[in-house]
Amino acid sequence: MSVRTATASIAAAALLGGCVLLPAAQAQAEGHRPGPVVFAHRGASAYAPENTLAAVDAADDLGITWVENDVQLTRDGVLVVVHDTDLRRTTDAEQVYPDRAPWAVKDFTAAEIARLDAGSWFGERFTGARVPTLARYLHRVERNHQKLLLEIKSPQTYPGIERETLRVLRAQGWLDREHVKHRLVVQSFGAESVKSVHAQRPDVVTGFLGTPAPADLPSYAAFTDQINPSYASIDADYVAAVQKLKGAHGKPLRVNTWTVNDAAKAAEVAGFGVDGIITDSPDVVRDATR
Ligand code: G3P
Ligand code: CA
Repeated sequence: MSVRTATASIAAAALLGGCVLLPAAQAQAEGHRPGPVVFAHRGASAYAPENTLAAVDAADDLGITWVENDVQLTRDGVLVVVHDTDLRRTTDAEQVYPDRAPWAVKDFTAAEIARLDAGSWFGERFTGARVPTLARYLHRVERNHQKLLLEIKSPQTYPGIERETLRVLRAQGWLDREHVKHRLVVQSFGAESVKSVHAQRPDVVTGFLGTPAPADLPSYAAFTDQINPSYASIDADYVAAVQKLKGAHGKPLRVNTWTVNDAAKAAEVAGFGVDGIITDSPDVVRDATR
C-alpha cells in the first residue's frame, strides 16, 4: 500500500470512528511517535539524476514532501543546483568544453552550464535533463507543493552566496510567512554561512551540517535550529544532547541525519530518536520507519 493510500485509509477510519484526526495526531493519540521526516537527498536521487527537476518529480511521485538540494554560484553570479564543485561527474562538461579543465562550476556562466546534459550519466531516459537554476528549481518544488531543505554548498568558494540565495528565495516567493514557517530550511557545512543567513533573515529556519562536540552545541544553538550530522557520527546519547537544547527560534534543536539508504540503518537511527532522515531512497526509509 502506498503512503498516500495508507494515509487516506487512516483518515477514513478516524472519520468512521466519529472523530477527525490527522494521521500524525492519531499516531500520537495511540501512543506512537510519528516516524522521522523523510528528506529526498538531492531529490529522489536513487531513481533520477541528482539535483535535477526529474529528481524533484521522482520524490513527488513517491509522495515525498521534503527535497534536499545543493546550491552554488556560476561565474556570472547565477545560483544553480549541483552538488560537486566541478561539473564532470554529473554532466557532459568534459565533452562539451574539452579545454576548460578543471570544469569548476565557478568558472562557467549560467548560459554555458545550461547547455550541459545532466541526465545521461544516470540513464539514457534522462538524456537532456539540465542543471537547474535555483529559480527554476524553486518553481518546480512549488508546483509540486513540496518543501525544501536548501544546502549552500562550499560557501567559502562563493563570497556573498548567502545574500544571493536569500534574494532569489524572496524573488520567487519563498520568504513569505507560509514558506518560512513551514516549507524552507537553509543549511550548510559552513557555520559562518549559517550565521550569515540567520543574521540577514532571522526568521528563516537554519541547519548546521556536522557533528559539533556536545560542549559546543550551545554556541550553535544561538544561530541554528537544526544540527544535521552524518549517521556514522551519532548515537542516541548525541541525539538527546542536541534535542535538549533550544535552537535559534526557541524550539528544541532538531536532528536530521544523512545519508541513510538502507532499511536496517534507517530503523537504527530512527531508534536513536532523530527528527529526520536524509536519503537517496526515500521510499525505503519511509517504509522502514513507519
Ligand atoms: O543534506 C545532507 C547532505 O546532503 C550533506 O552531504 O555531500 O550530500 O551534500 P552532501
Ligand atoms: Ca547536500
